[in-house]
Amino acid sequence: MTRISKKEFARRRQWLMEHMEPDSIAIVPSAKEIIRNRDVEYAFRQDSDFYYLTGFDEADAVLILLPGREHGEYVMFCRERDPKMELWNGYRAGPEGLCKSYGTNDAFPIGDIDDILPGLLEGRERVYYAMGRHAEFDQKVMSWVNVIRGKVRSGAHPPGEFVDLDHILHDMRLFKSAAELKVMREAAKISCRAHRRAMQFCQADIHEYQLEAEYIHEFMRAGARQPAYNSIVGGGKNGCILHYTENADLLKGGDLVLVDAGCELDYYGADITRTFPVNGKFNTEQKALYQLVLKAQLAAIAEIRPGNHWNQPHDMTVKVICEGLLKLGLLKGELEELIEKESYKEFYMHRAGHWLGMDVHDVGDYKVGDEWRVLEVGMVLTIEPGIYVAADNKKVAKKWRGIGIRIEDNIVVTRKGHEVLTEDAPKTVAAIEKQMRSKKVVR
Ligand code: GLY
Ligand code: MN
Ligand code: MN
Repeated sequence: MTRISKKEFARRRQWLMEHMEPDSIAIVPSAKEIIRNRDVEYAFRQDSDFYYLTGFDEADAVLILLPGREHGEYVMFCRERDPKMELWNGYRAGPEGLCKSYGTNDAFPIGDIDDILPGLLEGRERVYYAMGRHAEFDQKVMSWVNVIRGKVRSGAHPPGEFVDLDHILHDMRLFKSAAELKVMREAAKISCRAHRRAMQFCQADIHEYQLEAEYIHEFMRAGARQPAYNSIVGGGKNGCILHYTENADLLKGGDLVLVDAGCELDYYGADITRTFPVNGKFNTEQKALYQLVLKAQLAAIAEIRPGNHWNQPHDMTVKVICEGLLKLGLLKGELEELIEKESYKEFYMHRAGHWLGMDVHDVGDYKVGDEWRVLEVGMVLTIEPGIYVAADNKKVAKKWRGIGIRIEDNIVVTRKGHEVLTEDAPKTVAAIEKQMRSKKVVR
């Protein structure tokens, strides 16, 4: 069972229903199982919206919320129990299990949904649904509505309006409760431990995926079943590929390795990047660029407090990185012009961060109307500036080429300012080199 209590799941459903217009219905489908190759499926991961509202982790389920319904507002469809299928593929709660253990008021077999759902839609004015996310399910929703439309002459009342469910639900998910923050703190702690472990086990002439193994080991050992996203382990110039996940090359002494890896614990992710020297010691150029990224990151984190807006930390990273690249001679010209013309994008081409939560790139709007969103207590975000000098960048001196650095931490907006969840992963040059001196040997 999850660290989030049943009461909290119930509170979320209640809050959502209170914010829906009168006479409406919400429909939220679960994730589906996806085939990897013949008879083999990808590890199942429940849809975050569905899980947020139910705590139920099976495929082939649909959540229906019907505020004000006399026979119960919380309805689910799910797979029926089936001893034979369960023998082969694992336990199912079944409709009875949902009512017993998940607080569902009414649960039905998923096979009966076409017969039952039109009846639940009848008389409801609005349908809250995330249209456009699952083409197949969109069609089903329309087909259920059309059943009622086909009966108008017999007095049926079809819904007249579709409302985007994401708008309310994702705003709720953006603000983390005390219980959610507790889980995220734990996910961050485990992930930091994994980075510390990897720094100790890192050595030249092992494959990038062998370093990745140290992360997976620590995640699982600590109780996090899987990473929150595919880990990025890029040695040398591979560190300049933003979403590098092959992790198949040999690590070379003298190179840096960039590792972007975090675990998922009870559906909440950590998202941490550390960049460290394969042989435990930064060289002059690596150190110069590293310290610049760190300076930008610290300056950006200092911008996080209630009342500041979403883009302030990003603007700060741009300013510090531009100033630094000018000083080091990788950029030439006037600071203001370089910023205005976005010349820095040759080296720093992504944004400073994103919301973090159940999804690594979590939900929530970044702008309200035309204005950047103002930071509020309970929001969680990453700050992750980087500098990436392409190996074939002939405009800069050779000594800089092929260096890729990113430093990423997870931060909660608090009343006093912020809390960095990921402080336990060494980040200064001195702390990293010290951690790497306490070596462990890969057998
Ligand atoms: N791990 C993906 C990201 O940092 O955004
Ligand atoms: Mn990351
Ligand atoms: Mn990130």
